Amino acid sequence: MSRFVLITSDSALEDRVRAAIMGGLSGTLHVAAGLAPDELSQVLFDPGEATEVLLFGPGMATEDALRLASIVDVQHPEISLVLAARPDPELALSAMRAGIRDILDPGSEPEAIRVLVERACRSAESRMFGTNRKQQSAPKSGLIIVVASSKGGVGKTTLATNIAVSLGRIAPMSTVLVDLDAQFGDVSSALRIDPEHTLLDAVTGAAKDDSMVLKAFLSVHHSSIYALCAPGSPAEADGIRGDDVAHLLEQLASEFRYVVVDTAPGLGEQTLAALEKATEGVFVCTMDVPSVRGLRKELDVMNQLGFASNRCLVVNMGDPSGGLSVSDIEATIGARVDLVVPRSKDVAYSTNTGEPLLQRTTKGAAAKALDRLAGRFDPARQAEMERGRHKREALK
Ligand SMILES: Nc1ncnc2c1ncn2[C@@H]1O[C@H](COP(=O)(O)OP(=O)(O)O)[C@@H](O)[C@H]1O
Ligand SMILES: [Mg+2]
Repeated sequence: MSRFVLITSDSALEDRVRAAIMGGLSGTLHVAAGLAPDELSQVLFDPGEATEVLLFGPGMATEDALRLASIVDVQHPEISLVLAARPDPELALSAMRAGIRDILDPGSEPEAIRVLVERACRSAESRMFGTNRKQQSAPKSGLIIVVASSKGGVGKTTLATNIAVSLGRIAPMSTVLVDLDAQFGDVSSALRIDPEHTLLDAVTGAAKDDSMVLKAFLSVHHSSIYALCAPGSPAEADGIRGDDVAHLLEQLASEFRYVVVDTAPGLGEQTLAALEKATEGVFVCTMDVPSVRGLRKELDVMNQLGFASNRCLVVNMGDPSGGLSVSDIEATIGARVDLVVPRSKDVAYSTNTGEPLLQRTTKGAAAKALDRLAGRFDPARQAEMERGRHKREALK
């Protein structure tokens, strides 16, 4: 049994949260209209039941909610803190810093509330009991999207950072970008982050067994996502084994809705371990013969290894003037290309300024293509596209 605590004076939200809990969660709901710091322990603790989720609802000033959240986060880090508020990047950033784990749109229907509270519960459980035990008893929940290619310089980091920033809009604070190009990774530069901790800290020591410690090693980015950057020097990356990577991705998937992974060129031990854990593989090539051949070999290896997850094939820096067409590429790789991202100076500019294109705009051919790519991982947009497709078919 779980204990959910809702702090709100909004009875309509209370009714929907109640309906959400009755709709498939096992636990009791405790509602308080307000909460002062000295009442915290009294409200959060019940001898029989530990609180797993604390939801700050409307009716409480945001500053007060965030102040309380920072206290609870320090005193009881196992509790998942959720803030009901309209999504807004500035608020999301202060909320992340206060230890809030998710933001709930106050107008959400019971089903959406149930899904969010269920995830919050699962991550609270994993923090209470340690990730290892949790992994045996519950399936991983987040999507693991791995971006890979045989060659360097084809746009993996560009794609991965833009996917993450875009997903950060639908899952603020529940999206993490991992730089698995452990030796020469440049996610930190693509996001203009100066990380205090890196991948190496995340796979060694206490973080391995404790997702709370792991979370403390993530860097916060102002697009409401977390990032785990590559170590500062190539030598530091040497000790990171495939098993470490697999364990890390499982831990992150149990905490986050989206785990986006950027990789090093080729199919090294770390990339293979990530692809083995991937729910979605994004394979990239550019419009030149070596890159396309590389993709074909990469797909052959994936087939031999029995890679069974969803696969998305992307041609980046699409430019018909080079003598190769998309159908030539499809004939060589023996599969359909899912998406072409055109060559654009906007992309190069965004890399050089450390601001992913989708953070600034969804206009322009390259941004539109990147946005479509990210949309593949958004169930709401998928459903919308399906509806559009059915409508078009019906009109034929
Ligand atoms: N669609 C594109 N149009 C123009 N330049 C691009 C495009 N995609 C990537 N680039 C540029 O190519 C370079 C390599 O991209 P990057 O994402 O770092 O590749 P990788 O991670 O595969 O090594 C970067 O300078 C980036 O700005
Ligand atoms: Mg890269």
